[in-house]
Amino acid sequence: MAAEIEGVALPGPRGWPLVGVLPAVARRGFIPVMEEAWRRYGDLFELRVGASRVVIVAHPEGVERVLRGNRENYVKGPIYDNLRVLLGEGLATVEGPQWRVRRRQLQPAFHGRRIRALVPGMIALAERTLEELRARAPTGGIVDVSAEMSRLTFRMVGQGLFGLDLADQAGDTTQAIAAALEELAERGSTRPSFPLWAPTPGNLRLRRLIAGLDAQIAAVVAAGRAAGDRGDLLGALVSLRDAGEIDDRELRDEILTMFLAGYETVALTLGWCWYLLADEPAVQARIAAEAADGGASGELRYTRMVIDEVLRVRPTAWIVARDVREDDVVMGRRIRSGSIVLCAQYLVHRHPEFWREPERFNPDRWDRERPELRHDFAYFPFSKGPRVCIGADFGLTECQVVVATMARALTVSRPAGGEVGLRPLNNLRPDRPIRLAIRWR
Ligand code: HEM
Repeated sequence: MAAEIEGVALPGPRGWPLVGVLPAVARRGFIPVMEEAWRRYGDLFELRVGASRVVIVAHPEGVERVLRGNRENYVKGPIYDNLRVLLGEGLATVEGPQWRVRRRQLQPAFHGRRIRALVPGMIALAERTLEELRARAPTGGIVDVSAEMSRLTFRMVGQGLFGLDLADQAGDTTQAIAAALEELAERGSTRPSFPLWAPTPGNLRLRRLIAGLDAQIAAVVAAGRAAGDRGDLLGALVSLRDAGEIDDRELRDEILTMFLAGYETVALTLGWCWYLLADEPAVQARIAAEAADGGASGELRYTRMVIDEVLRVRPTAWIVARDVREDDVVMGRRIRSGSIVLCAQYLVHRHPEFWREPERFNPDRWDRERPELRHDFAYFPFSKGPRVCIGADFGLTECQVVVATMARALTVSRPAGGEVGLRPLNNLRPDRPIRLAIRWR
């Protein structure tokens, strides 16, 4: 073992004393800085970001080591503390044996059979969105796709996981969550970051947002109790609370975690999907044709290929971050304890050794007859290993249903000046809302 830890030191840009690559990141954004270092230093390199050593893993073999081979060494430690300010100790932020117990408790609510039973409700919500759009823009026009997809996916989470119609609440909650994440991103980039009780203007804003969210969650719990256990996630959580297996705080943390993890990821994926489809009228036509007769078989195979490709080029989860517990050797290089490791979907999904013409949006690469995927860990939009996304099936089903239902009724195109850039926060967001021109078929 000692000999193994001898691995070669990591390459990487030297950056500035004390701040490392922070000035470059502030100027150009994290993704361009990361991409340039990748081209220069290869598939495993280190960036100094302020006081932190950040190791970027851009090769499937390295990803496999971190997420599966030696996963006990790569944990959700201090790097998640910022997110814990908002989410507390829900499934996405909790670590160790507690995580294992919680995962087992919640898994049944995400069973494939349950998800399939939710499809008619999902279709109804997508159709409701179409009706609302038609009422507002009967002859077509420019639509804020990001806002529409947020509202829709929030309702889908409400209906699918909590059995509630949250239409009236959607705007308030999604805005509060988005604003809280912005405040946290701000906190994360300022040094020192004050504890939440310190009355800084940012903290006061954050506390107000969190208090508002807490009140909304309390209302969700009350409504869930009134409705009784219907076998959904909310029912499972309330039963766990009543059995004394979780306390009120954990119940709150879990509900907020599912809201956040469940709606924003899907809303962003759908936003990117429409954005990419705006350049692809032929793909839109194929989705519409499949939806027209695919409703019968229900499989929507081509639509799924499109979603898979969207998640390859615009992976909503653009990195999986972990704290390194002990020294390790990954792909022959030494990774030091105390570093932060980022398994970068954004890079691995466009690695030229594993993808043909990686920058090209091409759903056909997902054709089952001609599989292109050459390494299991070259594609991991939902992460991999035991902490793989618990909502992957639910999220993919939502995306398929929404894209198929809506592409049957309308086409999208990009208006002049409608290009958006990347804003990588906890998720890969567009740097401004995606606005597209819609036309009714
Ligand atoms: C396209 C949509 C989605 C994407 C791209 C996505 C991506 C991910 C990724 C990459 C992780 C692993 C994070 C990590 O370990 O650092 C994750 C975990 C998680 N996701 Fe998703 N997700 C999506 C949809 C959903 C939905 C719909 C839900 C809930 C209904 C959900 C709930 C969660 C939860 C609770 C975790 C933590 C699981 C654990 O650690 O045991 N996600 N997701």
